[in-house]
Formats: sequence, structure tokens, C-alpha cells
Amino acid sequence: MLRVENITHSFKNGSESTPVLHDINFTVNPGEMVALLGSSGSGKSTLLNLMAGLMKPMEGDIYIADHSIVKMSENKLSEFRRKHIGFIFQAYELITSLTVRENVELPLVFQSVSPSIRKQKSLSLLEKVGILDKADLFPSQLSGGQQQRVSIARSLITEPSVIFADEPTGNLDSKTEEEIIGILLELNKTMNTTFIIVTHETDVAEQMQRIFALRDGYLVSEKGSLVGMEPKGGISIEN
Ligand SMILES: Nc1ncnc2c1ncn2[C@@H]1O[C@H](COP(=O)(O)OP(=O)(O)O)[C@@H](O)[C@H]1O
Ligand SMILES: [Mg+2]
Repeated sequence: MLRVENITHSFKNGSESTPVLHDINFTVNPGEMVALLGSSGSGKSTLLNLMAGLMKPMEGDIYIADHSIVKMSENKLSEFRRKHIGFIFQAYELITSLTVRENVELPLVFQSVSPSIRKQKSLSLLEKVGILDKADLFPSQLSGGQQQRVSIARSLITEPSVIFADEPTGNLDSKTEEEIIGILLELNKTMNTTFIIVTHETDVAEQMQRIFALRDGYLVSEKGSLVGMEPKGGISIEN
């Protein structure tokens, strides 16, 4: 489903270059729910943005459903992203002038799907995330947790191969966080959607099937919580 091969990335600031990711390798199978765990600045968002095709790595390759998103032309990549990739942001990123239902349907508007099919799909997803009764409200009339549910429904509407979520509960209190993670786990189980969830919280990561832990741009462990431990020679760094 997703294959990350020898990804190395730096950010250039004039003549200075800051290395951010070092030779990252891993594979995610279809239907898996994976946490990308690490403290602030460890490179999680950079890796997620690379995997979602939002930027190109300096070195290495990334395959989604056997297509290299690194080698793809920009035109092809935008189309590929629209069809195959979903994204959930920490700050929801809903369009305030559109209703809940219109927000959820927006990705299908860009795919010229008919209004009746859009409506059918959006209402069914809003029901799945538990806010069907909010369909005709505007985002400003919803709580943070409800807005994130809208954004989850929007990410699913194109039936993407994989959904990337960058700290999806980062703006929420712990009770709402639990609800949102519960919804993501349930959707993964019932719809078999592949999820890559970025988090800095060990207890969120531990609910996922697999954990990739990043430290200072290095993949220090695969599965299990090793936060606070020094990477040792014996710890599995997948290659
Ligand atoms: N656009 C950028 N330009 C320069 N440095 C960046 C840029 N984006 C991120 N960084 C740096 O890369 C490192 C990793 O950042 P990031 O991927 O956002 O980490 P995380 O999401 O784990 O907090 C940090 O040191 C950050 O300052
Ligand atoms: Mg981040």
C-alpha cells in the first residue's frame, strides 16, 4: 500500500541546510492503522507531507499503491492525490462559508460527481461519524470535536487508498480526543481504510496496530513504545 524507501530530507535556508529526516524505510500494508510517534521537531509532519505528496524528498522514493509519487509529474500527482489520498489536519481546515454537508462533498465537486450521489455519500458518512443532525449547520456552529468529525467525513468521501492525519486531536481535550481516536479506529475496522496518524502522545499511538517512532529525524523503532529510551543496536530499525 505505502512504501517509504531511503527517504532523506533537509531544508535549505540560504547556504545553510538543516537535515530533518535520515534514511527512513518502512512499509504499510492495506487496511493497517499506523502511528507516527515522536516529540515536537522530530520530523513527523515533514515525513507525512512527503508521503502525502505535498513536497518532494531530497533523496529516496515513496510508493502508494505501487505508484511512485516522487517520480510523478505535478499534474499527475494532483490528480493522484485527489483520487487516492485523504488528509486530516490538526486545525480541521473547513470552509466557513459552506455548510457541514457542502464541506464533506467538496472533494466530489472537483471530481464532477452528480449532486444526488454527493448527497447520498456525504449523509452516509456524516451518519458514520455521528453528526448527521449537523449536516445543514456551518462549521462555526460546531464544537472542535464535531468539526474534526466533519473533516474525517470529508477525507473519506473519495474512498482514498490512504488517509494521513497530522495530530488530528492536537486541538482537543482528552475526552474528545478519545472520541475522535475511537471513530478513526472504528472506521479503520469497518471500512478497511489505511490510516497514518501523526501524534506526540504515546497513549494515542499505543491504540494503533503499529507504531513508527521518530527521534531527531531517525526512525528509532517500529512497534512498541520506546519513547524515552535510547536507540540501541538491537532495536529493530526496519530496512
Ligand atoms: N519549511 C521548513 N523550513 C525549514 N525547516 C523546517 C521546515 N519545516 C520543518 N522544519 C524543521 O524540521 C524539523 C522537523 O519539523 P517537523 O517535521 O514539523 O516536526 P514535527 O512535526 O515532528 O514537530 C524541525 O527542526 C523544524 O524546525
Ligand atoms: Mg508536526
